Amino acid sequence: MNSSDYWAIAEADIDIQNPVTDRKLRLLDDFCDIRDGLRVLDVGCGKAWVMRQWAERFTIDGTGLETNPKFIEAAKRKPPASGKLQFIEGPAEKFRPEPASYDVVLCLGAAFTLGGFVQAIEWMTAAAKPGGAVVIGDLTLKHRPAVNTHQHLPLDAIEMLGVVQRHGAEVSALISASEADFERYASHHRHATLRWARENPGHADHDAVLDKSNADWGYYLRTIRPLMGWTVYVGRKTDQ
Ligand SMILES: C[S@@+](CC[C@H](N)C(=O)[O-])C[C@H]1O[C@@H](n2cnc3c(N)ncnc32)[C@H](O)[C@@H]1O
Repeated sequence: MNSSDYWAIAEADIDIQNPVTDRKLRLLDDFCDIRDGLRVLDVGCGKAWVMRQWAERFTIDGTGLETNPKFIEAAKRKPPASGKLQFIEGPAEKFRPEPASYDVVLCLGAAFTLGGFVQAIEWMTAAAKPGGAVVIGDLTLKHRPAVNTHQHLPLDAIEMLGVVQRHGAEVSALISASEADFERYASHHRHATLRWARENPGHADHDAVLDKSNADWGYYLRTIRPLMGWTVYVGRKTDQ
């Protein structure tokens, strides 16, 4: 089964493809000083909810980098009232942004596309104008396991904030998903994949979708729910 097809099934019911709610993400309007005329780059934009709601209200010029054609199709479904958006289908790591040319560089839940959190921050700060906003959201460690489970675990939010600061952006704001927010996000995936499996019993991907759904749900229940959170770091590129 193709991973893009799986995620199109799992995220069929949601427009925001990370654990943070729409209400919390609207704080980015203020934290990024969103206004007319800004150039925005969104790495792994998915259905591009954040850029779309900005382009609805402001004359931004936004570019989304995304590999999943179904998400790009969803992002393009309703042209925005004010701004203009373009989507580049393909791996974000192949896109070469003009250095220091974007007012806002976003990457929500897609740092892995640029090789990981540190590499993503470096790539994003290089693309941002001096003083531009660099916004990255990712998993964080909230509680260390009582015994060493030898699992790969993310850094905690304070350590991640330090990484952002050491790689060229001063962090001015944090936005975190609550446990309930994360539960809702994981439950949307579980609900949509089980529904799809019920509705498509003879589909060639039926068993593979259920296998991945079971594995992801188990990982959420046993590892993410007790140990992890999800935080967006909003920084300003510091070098002038
Ligand atoms: C967790 S989702 C986040 C989507 C969106 N940023 C949001 O928060 O709503 C990660 C996104 O990265 C996309 N993606 C995966 N690999 C990619 C790559 N190599 N280049 C660009 N996008 C990629 C996925 O298709 C998916 O839409």
